[in-house]
Formats: sequence, C-alpha cells, structure tokens
Amino acid sequence: MREDAGYSGGENFDLRQMLLKGRSMRLDQKAAFFGRFMSDLQEAGENLCMRCITSPTDREVVVVDPATGKPKKMLMFGSNSYLGLANHPTVKARVEEAIRTYAIGIGGPPLLNGYTSIHYELEQRLADLKGTEDALVFSSGYGANVGLVSGLMNHNDVVIYDAYSHASFCDGIKMSGVQAYRFPHNDLARLASLLGQHCSADHDTYVGSEGSTPWTGCRPAGQIVALCEAYGAILIVDDAHGTGVMGAKGSGTAEHFGVESRVPLTMGTFSKAFSVTGASWPPSADHQLLRFFARSYMFSASLPPMVLAAVLGGLDVLASEPERPSGCGRTSPGRPPGCARWELRSDRTRRSSL
Ligand SMILES: Cc1ncc(COP(=O)(O)O)c(C=O)c1O
Repeated sequence: MREDAGYSGGENFDLRQMLLKGRSMRLDQKAAFFGRFMSDLQEAGENLCMRCITSPTDREVVVVDPATGKPKKMLMFGSNSYLGLANHPTVKARVEEAIRTYAIGIGGPPLLNGYTSIHYELEQRLADLKGTEDALVFSSGYGANVGLVSGLMNHNDVVIYDAYSHASFCDGIKMSGVQAYRFPHNDLARLASLLGQHCSADHDTYVGSEGSTPWTGCRPAGQIVALCEAYGAILIVDDAHGTGVMGAKGSGTAEHFGVESRVPLTMGTFSKAFSVTGASWPPSADHQLLRFFARSYMFSASLPPMVLAAVLGGLDVLASEPERPSGCGRTSPGRPPGCARWELRSDRTRRSSL
C-alpha cells in the first residue's frame, strides 16, 4: 500500500480532500462551499465553534458558553495534560524564574541566536531521561516529525509505517519523497512481509510506529523492535502520548516494555503530559546532522525559555513524585490525578476526530 492510498484511521485525515473530493475550485468558491458546510452542520445541531477557556487548564475549566456569552464551569475531558502538570505549583515556579532570568522570548532559530543555557539544560535532561547522548528540541511535535522524516530519509530509502501514524509523520514522508508502504494498524505479519520485500543493503529501511495513545493503547513494542533488528531496519517511535506517562521514569513506551536501548529514534512531545508545546528527538551523537538537515529545526524560531522551563519543572515533578507516570496507561492499575482521558478512552479503538 503506498502513501497515497487514502485515509486509513488515526490522526491523519485531510479535511480538504474529504470535502472537496478532488474538485478544483477558486478561493471564493471554496470559501462559499465551506461556509455552506458549516451552516448545514449548525442547522443540524452540530456546533464546531472553538470554545473559549478563561481559566487555567485543569480537570475543571471555566468556558465561555457560546449560547449565553457567559462563563461557566465545565469538566475537561479533551486535554492531553495527562499528569495534571498544566497547573502544578513546581512548574509555575520554574516558569516564573525563567522569565526573571531570560525574559520572554528569543526571536530566532537555534542555529542563529536561539540557543540559551536553558535549551542546553533541557537537552541534557531529556538525553539523560532517554539514555541517549543528545537531544534536539523542536518547536512542535508536528515540526519534529516532519523534520526528522524529511531530514533523514532519501528518495532511494524505504519507510514502512503503521496506518495510524500521525499526519505529521505522513507529511514528512511526502516532503522527503521516500518510498513509503504502510501496514494495517498493529498488523505485525504484514509488517514482517513488507520488511521481507523491501529491506536491502542498497538503502536504509525505516519503520514508523507510534508508542502508545489513550485511544488505541500501547503498540506491541517488543515485537516491533525484534522484527526491525531481524531485518536490519531502523525503528522510529513517535511517542507523543507515552512520553512522561509510560515507564517508571516516565521516559516513554519503550521504557515500559524494557526495550529503551533498542529503539534508535524516539520522538516525545511537550504538548501532552507536559501541557505546553514543543518536542524532542533524543538521537545518538552520530545523528547531529539532524540539526542541519531537519528544515523545521533550522528554519523555525526556538521555543521561548519559559516554555522549556515548564518542561524542566515537569521533569522535576516526575522525579519527585514517581507515582505520577508509572501508573498511567491501560496495562497498569492506579492512575494518577489528571489521567481521566486514559481511563475513558482505553477501551476505544478510534478517537472521534472533530
Ligand atoms: C502521535 C502524535 N504525533 C505528533 C503529534 C504532533 O504534536 P504537537 O501537537 O506537539 O505538534 C501529535 C499531536 O496530536 C500526536 O498525537
């Protein structure tokens, strides 16, 4: 199955394709078409307006009621703040300290002027957490995936990836022009068959899989690692949702399954458990080329120090309150505060998208 084979589940739908179905329209026609689509939805009682939150994000939030225009308290089930770090006093104190030291932002990309001692400190902490020599901090998980895939893979390489892979991984594939084949979600027999067909000494073969998500649970990480080792393929794990949550240290899904040292490339976002934005790829030292080959790293402004301070504060909390990460996830019992979404979604196979 090639990358252009259409929607196959997971967070990789293309609303433009779904609505326009390949029809070419001028901008004003598209705008009118989409306007009709939205008003039809509204008439059918579906409200897609973005709700405006006026309080810190926690289990309970204050939201402006679109009907009355007045604020009201609501329970939050949509946030990825799995560990309740979004409003944690330790995290807030670190952010305040960072603002005093570094002020607000930097105004440039890391290779130019956007690299401070707090960027260095966070890279070291993440590398230690993941047991690697280095870590690169990207401005978003989306950018990290696009940058890694398009930065590492060449036209003659092959990537074999789970059909539920995130849109950012798939967009990286499109940018790189790598030969791409996808296997049905968690179908290891199909993965093995594709590895058998496409692995060769002439090129690199990569395998893309997500670590774990609240709506599909954990991937069979040990078996995927063993298959990659058997065929000499390079495994990439997008652990956006597992980072901070899975494993005794909170290092992620690979730690949970005891295969941390056997996964060469893992991406973890700061937008889920750490509740801010950004992401890291902790590669081995010989992958320094990513700082120069990943265009989303090279040509995008660095995260402000206060955002990195929030991640460092979150890591401090994980270290001082080890009960937070280790219980979260559907294979373990006691979930810490802030994990409502994992409990609610653990039995679902797909998340409703809109
Ligand atoms: C599996 C996965 N990868 C990557 C991303 C992108 O991360 P971010 O929102 O931090 O850009 C997401 C976000 O939803 C995700 O779920």
